[in-house]
Amino acid sequence: MRTDYCGELTRENLGKEVKLYGWVNKARDLGGVVFFDLRDISGLVQVVVRPDSPLYETATQLRAEYCLEVSGKVILRENPNLNIKTGEIEINPSNIVILNKSLPLPIDAKSNDEMKLKYRYLDLRRLELQEIFKTKARIVSVVRRYLEENQFIDCETPILAKSTPEGARDYLVPSRIFKGEFFALPQSPQVMKQLLMVAGFDRYYQIAKCFRDEDLRADRQPEFSQIDIETSFLNQDEILTILEGMFKVLWKEILNLDLETPFKRLEWKDAMRLYGSDKPDTRFKMELEHYNELFSKVDSPLFNEKNIVGIRLIDGNREFSRKKIDSLIEYAKKYGAENLLYLKKTDGQIGGSIIKLLTDDMINELALKENELLLLTSHKNYLKACTIMGALRVKLASDLGLYSDKDYDFKWVVNFPLFELADDGSITSSHHPFTRPLDSDKDKILSNPLDVYSAAYDLVCQGYEVGGGSLRIYDSEVQQNVFKTLNISEEQQKEKFGYLFDAMTYGCPPHGGCAFGLERLTMILVHSTNIRDVVLFPKTTSSQDLMLDSPNPVDLSQLEEVSIKINQ
Ligand code: AMO
Repeated sequence: MRTDYCGELTRENLGKEVKLYGWVNKARDLGGVVFFDLRDISGLVQVVVRPDSPLYETATQLRAEYCLEVSGKVILRENPNLNIKTGEIEINPSNIVILNKSLPLPIDAKSNDEMKLKYRYLDLRRLELQEIFKTKARIVSVVRRYLEENQFIDCETPILAKSTPEGARDYLVPSRIFKGEFFALPQSPQVMKQLLMVAGFDRYYQIAKCFRDEDLRADRQPEFSQIDIETSFLNQDEILTILEGMFKVLWKEILNLDLETPFKRLEWKDAMRLYGSDKPDTRFKMELEHYNELFSKVDSPLFNEKNIVGIRLIDGNREFSRKKIDSLIEYAKKYGAENLLYLKKTDGQIGGSIIKLLTDDMINELALKENELLLLTSHKNYLKACTIMGALRVKLASDLGLYSDKDYDFKWVVNFPLFELADDGSITSSHHPFTRPLDSDKDKILSNPLDVYSAAYDLVCQGYEVGGGSLRIYDSEVQQNVFKTLNISEEQQKEKFGYLFDAMTYGCPPHGGCAFGLERLTMILVHSTNIRDVVLFPKTTSSQDLMLDSPNPVDLSQLEEVSIKINQ
């Protein structure tokens, strides 16, 4: 058995006889002396073999990634490297056993992403990646401890389940016994955790695997984990306080930082108005400004009956040339902008694409400062106008380096609309159909659904939705009205969620909860911007596993067993 881990040896171990296991990180023959770094999960330590050593012959055969057992003495290093923890010492070996040789690795730092994913188990030998997964494991451990200290019970819910209401496409599993019928993998344990509340479990949690067949982005994987939580008999503030406590402990234990609680509450309406996003990055200000009134006086199709939203920034270095502004216009178009207008004050002169449309009074009212750039868009749809400028706001802040990944701007975005209009004009749930409307809006569900707000809350940090939840409906009449508005027939209700509906009639307690994306949380804590960094075996953007080479065709006999025929 090993006596020590490589990366933990320091001056304090001088003179100690150690036995280590690991891989050759790099072997170098410098003027007849063989140096190599031995690497294990904890880090590296240097081993030196001189020509007069009986091990010299073995040492000259060592190549990168050979797997070794090394015994020897910890001695002082002649040329210390103070950049690494073990840099003051080295190992003078008394025995080296080659446990296994290695072919030259098929990947290196310069390999493309596909190759790195194909050989993920080799890429995972990188200590930076291993550090991320050690942190992720600590996050899970801190979360479990916190929740269990707060009387939450860890419950497992089924993976072979039924379609859940999150709204992405399901991954389906055919049943062998019931031909033509399918299980769905859960998009979240939403319904099951609500049933556990009806069962009286009171405080539930689970680190739950979730599956969603949706278009992937830098913060989405088809298979991910939620820290999933549900409670009974608590009001919204009480739930949020418990959840904030979990983040406070996490930030203290992982980053040794004191988060200030309670987190800010930001109404959804204000988030959209000020930042054009329901997950605003508030590490920088650059709030949206609304100019409907001022521009309503201009007689131009650009402004008539439009919502006019702008942002201002100081272009001190005069980087915002015509060309740069053109590139911003292209960017805004991707978000549905019909136009991107601008005004700018340079050397006391105001110019820009709409200067000719404005009177002196209007220009005075805008009160542009020296080097200030005002970007504007106009759109018939208010939320669209906000979203376009919100996207531009984030891009500009990133281009200008206005924030740091070490600022944590936690806030709850609260009171989302209960419903929203889909592209085809139909009404859909903003979260899921079990979200409770605000008490004050309950009576408007049928008559004015788009004016109903909900007891839903998202936790947002650095522009990421870290988690989301709500109080749930526990009154079957309210639930029925929501389904009616969503145009889900009674038959469909019964077929899809009948069990939850039934459960509401058996003394269902008032309840509510939340789910946090474990990967998104880890990304923030390890300062990564790509979810693949925090998933051990991630899928590509087209949801493939390049290492396992899956999905892949299966034997015809397997398909026959589940009565499936493939249409080519
Ligand atoms: P929601 O759908 O908002 O809510 O998901 C909760 C959190 O899960 C994370 N998340 C993802 N992470 C990685 N890849 C994905 N594809 C992905 N999709 C979601 C996000 C998100 O905030 N049942 C409700 C929660 C509740 O109401 O209690 C739910 O699943 O961080």
